Amino acid sequence: MSDRKLCMIPGPIEFHEDVLTAMSTPATSHVDPLFVPIFGESIEMIREVVVSKVAQPLILSGSGTLGWDQMVNVIEQGDEVLVLNTGYFGENFADCLKTYGAKITQLRAPVGSRPTLDEVTTAVKEKKYKMVTITQVDTSTGVLSDIKTLSLAIKALSPETLVVIDAVCAVGSEEIQFDAWKLDVLITGSQKGLGVPPGLSIVVLSEQAINIYESRKTPVAAYYSNWKKWLPIMKAYEARKPAYFATPAVQLIYALHTSLKQITSQPIEKRWAKHQEVAAKFRKAVKDLGLKQVAVTDDAAANGMTAVWLPEGLVAGQLVGSLAGKGVQIAGGILGDLSPKYFRVGHMGISVMERNHIDKVIKAMTESLAELGYKQ
Ligand SMILES: Cc1ncc(COP(=O)(O)O)c(C=O)c1O
Repeated sequence: MSDRKLCMIPGPIEFHEDVLTAMSTPATSHVDPLFVPIFGESIEMIREVVVSKVAQPLILSGSGTLGWDQMVNVIEQGDEVLVLNTGYFGENFADCLKTYGAKITQLRAPVGSRPTLDEVTTAVKEKKYKMVTITQVDTSTGVLSDIKTLSLAIKALSPETLVVIDAVCAVGSEEIQFDAWKLDVLITGSQKGLGVPPGLSIVVLSEQAINIYESRKTPVAAYYSNWKKWLPIMKAYEARKPAYFATPAVQLIYALHTSLKQITSQPIEKRWAKHQEVAAKFRKAVKDLGLKQVAVTDDAAANGMTAVWLPEGLVAGQLVGSLAGKGVQIAGGILGDLSPKYFRVGHMGISVMERNHIDKVIKAMTESLAELGYKQ
């Protein structure tokens, strides 16, 4: 793969060689005594990464979107859901929940901003919501939501409301304290901050989320993603017992296990701090170039990715193409009509923790902008 480019999009990210090697395990039965502890330990390490002692992780074959779909387990026809929308992914999460009969209220913020604490608490006081969803990092805008403050405020006003976090672009790169922040559902995938090829849907559940699922009035209108099928499987593997409902992605779970071993080999706080440091460095480079990030403040800017407005007269395809010519893959925008006007760079995982890839991106970006005629 000599034409392969450094993958600096906001996921999939660069993979560690050991993670890829782990995937070349010879065919192994998913109930083999060799594999059972690999799955069991992976479940336990997910709990460590999201800082929980008690939550129940589920690891299923599928992409991050399957986590949205799994909300079918807690949604019943007509349930009121408040969606905090900070971009494309919030919009689509709302669309997914509608499919399962939820009545959606959206709190939208101007592009680059996020709904304020006041707006959220007012909304929660006005109506009883079964669920509030927050996209921790909306990958379309690079906006970071303050899920700690929001979750604790929502829970103080309405303890029964489920706080559901789309953390697909946040687990492994942003601070998350599942228990202390009273989160109920955390949704992620394998290919971003966890540094594993795409293909695993990872969802973490609080006791309250499981209780609401167990006490629902109507049956869950889903087969594969029904928690009734998966909860016993996860419990069995964690107890180091083989179990079967649908074949797990054995090789991807070997890869996940390897990556999680690396991640948990040092305090998770160090990982968050390193992502914050590299994000700040990239934001400074953007500023020094005279460009503006999409997130309106640094507080509201993600640490695992950055979205940047292009200078007048340039479109995303030009910059993405130019960087590709220099061996660096970045991403264009994904926000309707605004898409050509900005670009996105991922800075997560090994690119941040051990390879200093951001320097290559900054150099290529600076050169490409000059070549495309940009003058500060
Ligand atoms: C914030 C967010 N949510 C959900 C998804 C959907 O995940 P997937 O593409 O793995 O299905 C993505 C994908 O980029 C995302 O960034």
